[in-house]
This record gives sequence, structure tokens and C-alpha cells, in this order.
Amino acid sequence: MGRAAKIAPSILSADFARLGEEIRRVEAAGADLIHFDVMDGHFVPNLSIGLPVLESVRKITRLPLDAHLMIEEPGRYLEAFVKSGADSISIHAEVCPDLPEIARQIHALGIRAAVAVNPETPPDRVLAAAEHFDMILVMSVHPGFGGQSFIPETVSKLRVIREELDRRGLTLDVEIDGGIKLENIASVAAAGANVFVSGSGIFGQPDYAAIIAEMRDHLIDATVALR
Ligand code: DX5
Ligand code: ZN
Repeated sequence: MGRAAKIAPSILSADFARLGEEIRRVEAAGADLIHFDVMDGHFVPNLSIGLPVLESVRKITRLPLDAHLMIEEPGRYLEAFVKSGADSISIHAEVCPDLPEIARQIHALGIRAAVAVNPETPPDRVLAAAEHFDMILVMSVHPGFGGQSFIPETVSKLRVIREELDRRGLTLDVEIDGGIKLENIASVAAAGANVFVSGSGIFGQPDYAAIIAEMRDHLIDATVALR
């Protein structure tokens, strides 16, 4: 299908005491996006980083900033995230009753809109509104923490989503997030993902350039296997 594969390191697993250096290192190592996880202690049982950190990160990288809002009432914060430098915002389907409306609000702010789904949320919920979005984010762990194990049942959901998008002629990005490592990146690519979030899989490694290069090699193999 010619969809570009993008590697998106999640800075949740970076060393926050040296965040600027960590981001420069993954940028030099060939990352395509910076995945920025925002948690509110309500939608997920954890807190993470927010607007002031995003603003600082914006100043030190040219890479697109992919804000993943694991928060209730995300509509209240869209403008603030755009002002702080987000290039795309993912809101969760579980907390947005009117998906077309929130996509419209994000687009009105001039950035890309994505809809995220938790592992237990059926694919129909996002497919019903797919044409309003630029990307679907499929969670392959229960959101809230980095470093969890990939939930294998997610692969069939990815496949259902990509097949239905193809059937309808929609060329959205499909992002997979949670437990993505060298050993499973090819199988999620073969199931239809083309944006790969990896936190501990990259920041847990000594050589970011080597691990990103190896991930790309596995993706090429997966694409070849599809032909
Ligand atoms: C989980 C976050 C993920 C997480 C990924 O709630 O949305 O982006 O940081 O980290 P790993 O790759 O370690 O599962
Ligand atoms: Zn995330």
C-alpha cells in the first residue's frame, strides 16, 4: 500500500533528568516522531507529563510531536496542547462520545487528529468515525504505564481495522502502542500497523541508532513477506 513506516519513541521511558539529550539522541538515531504520553490519574491510574514539558521539548527538536492524551475531557485541553507544540493529538474513544466533533475541533486548530482505543474496546467504535481522523491508535497494553508486555490478541484487532480501512479506501495511519519490541514489530506491521510506538524497547537499549535500524530491518522483512 506504500504507507510510510514510522518509528515513534515514547519518551515515557526516557531519563527525564536528561530529557533534551535523550530526544536529541533518538532524533540522531533516525526516529520519525516523538510520542508524548499524557496521563491524568483518572482515565488511567497514573500521572505523567504535560504542557510545560511539551513546550520545552518543542524548542529542542524538529521531529513531529505526537501527543497521546490518556485523559478525561480531552476537549478542554486541545488548544493548549497545540499552543505548546503538538503536531498531532490522539484522544481516547472511551471518553469521547462525539468522535466526529472532537476530530473537527482538532483539525480546526490546524493539526492531525487521531483516535485511540484500549485493548478491550471493540474496533467498530473507531471504525464508525474513521473517515474523520488521520490516524487510529491501537493500544496493545492497558494504558497507564511503560514497560508492560504486549497483549497478543491486539494483532487480530489491528487486522480488522486495517482491512476495513482498505475496504473503504481510507489511507489512515494505524499506530500501535504498548510493548513493541524487536521481536513483535514485524507481526504488527504484517497485521496493518505503520506507526510503531516504542518506549522501553528503545530507551531501554544502550544504542538507540542500532535498535532503530534493526527495527527498520524487521519492517522491511515484514513488507517483503506480505508480497
Ligand atoms: C502506555 C503508553 C505507551 C508507553 C509505551 O500507557 O501509552 O506509549 O509509553 O511504552 P512501552 O513501549 O515500554 O510499552
Ligand atoms: Zn502512548
